[in-house]
Amino acid sequence: MSEHITYNFDQVIDRRHDRWSYSEKWSDSAETAEHCGVPAIADDHIALFTADMDFRCAQPILDALHATVDHGIFGYSGLAGNTRYYDALRAWFARRDGWDIDTDLVSYSPGTVLALNICVHAFTKPGDAIIIQRPVYPPFTSAVEGNDRVVLDNHLVRHTADDEQGDLYYTMDFDQLEELAARDDARMLILCNPHNPVGRAWTAEELARVADICTAHDVLIVADEIHGDLMAPGYRMVHLAQAAPKARVVTCTATNKTFNLAGLPATNMVFSNAADKARFEEVRGYAEPSPFAISAAIAAYEDGEDWLAQCLAYIQGNIDAVIGYFAEHLPDVGVRAPEGTYILWFDFTERCRKLGIDGAELHRRIYEDARVLLQDGTNFDPQGGEFFQRMVVPSPRSMLLDACERIARALS
Ligand SMILES: Cc1ncc(COP(=O)(O)O)c(C=O)c1O
Repeated sequence: MSEHITYNFDQVIDRRHDRWSYSEKWSDSAETAEHCGVPAIADDHIALFTADMDFRCAQPILDALHATVDHGIFGYSGLAGNTRYYDALRAWFARRDGWDIDTDLVSYSPGTVLALNICVHAFTKPGDAIIIQRPVYPPFTSAVEGNDRVVLDNHLVRHTADDEQGDLYYTMDFDQLEELAARDDARMLILCNPHNPVGRAWTAEELARVADICTAHDVLIVADEIHGDLMAPGYRMVHLAQAAPKARVVTCTATNKTFNLAGLPATNMVFSNAADKARFEEVRGYAEPSPFAISAAIAAYEDGEDWLAQCLAYIQGNIDAVIGYFAEHLPDVGVRAPEGTYILWFDFTERCRKLGIDGAELHRRIYEDARVLLQDGTNFDPQGGEFFQRMVVPSPRSMLLDACERIARALS
C-alpha cells in the first residue's frame, strides 16, 4: 500500500497550451469544435463538455508510469498470464462492490465505445433492433445507427417536483421495455449504469427487472458500467451481473473514468459465458493494452483508492457548489445531484421560456456569450433534449464557479 498523500484538486493545470498535454477536451481543433457543435473554440472557452478530469493523476499511477518509462523498451505488450493485473482487478470489485468476477471470462478492449461497436457487430446483424434508454450518452446511438442497426428508444421517465422522487429523477418504463424486447427484431439492450447523463445508479430491483425482461425475450444486455466507481455518498454500485447472476450480460468496466485514464485505454469486458467472450474476440481481432495502460491500471487498482476517496469528496463539493450557485442565481434552472457519475444534467426549459429563446439560442449564449463549452441536450435526446445541457464537473472549483457566473450573466 502506498503512503497517504494529500492531493490538491484546486490546482489549475494548463492543459490547453502545455506542449505535452495532447488533451482533446482543451484542444481548439476543428474536430473538437464539431464535437461540441460550435463553429470554433477560442482561448477563453472553459471546457466542461466531456467526461474527463482536470486533476493530476494519483501518485502511485505516476510512479508506475515513470518506472515503465525507465524500463526503456516498449515492444508488444499483453495481459496473457498477467496474474497481477487480473488479481488486482478481481480484488477491486470484490472489495468495493462485493462483485465476484471470474477473470477467465474477462477480455480486453481498447476503449469502451469501440467495445460497444464490436458487441453490435459480434452479436447482431444489419437491420436488427437495439434498445437504448434516452436521454443517453450519444455514442450509444452511433454504435447502433452507425452500424446499420435500428434504435429502439426505451425512453426514461422524467419525474417532476410534484412527484415523490422530486424533480429530474428518472426511472425506467418497464412496460415499454417489455414491448420493445418482445419484438422479433430486438437483439440487444445497451444499458448505462450509472446512467450518463441523468445520474441514476440503478437499484438491484430495477436491474433484476431489466434482466428478467431481456432474458425472457433473448435480448443480450451490454452493460456500460464504466462510471460505476464514481458513486455519491450513501450510494453503492450494483452491477447488473450481481443483481441478475444468471443473465446473459457483457459488462464494460474500466479505470478510464475512475482514474482519468482515457488516454491509456484498458476496458475490461466481463462476460457471463465463454462463448460470448470467444465471439467478441473473434470480431475484435488481436488487441492488447500498451505497457503504460497495464502499469497504470495495476497501480490504480492496487494503490489508487486513497486518491479516489479524496477525488470523490472534492467532486461532491463541486456538485454542491454548482447546484448551490444555480439555486441562488438561476433558481428556475432544474438540476439535481447524481447518485453516480460526475455529470450534471440541466433543464433550462423554464429559463428559456422566460427569456423567450429556443434551444439553439440557449446553446449559442452559453458558447458565445458565456464562453463555456457544455454538451447540448439534443445529442443525448434528439426529440426531447432541446432545453437541456450537460456539464461535467471534475475540474478545479474556481473554474466551475467562473463558468457558472458566466452562464448566469449570459442568461439573466
Ligand atoms: C457511458 C460512457 N461510456 C463510454 C465512454 C467512453 O469510454 P471510452 O473512452 O473507454 O471509449 C464514456 C465517456 O464519457 C461514457 O460516459
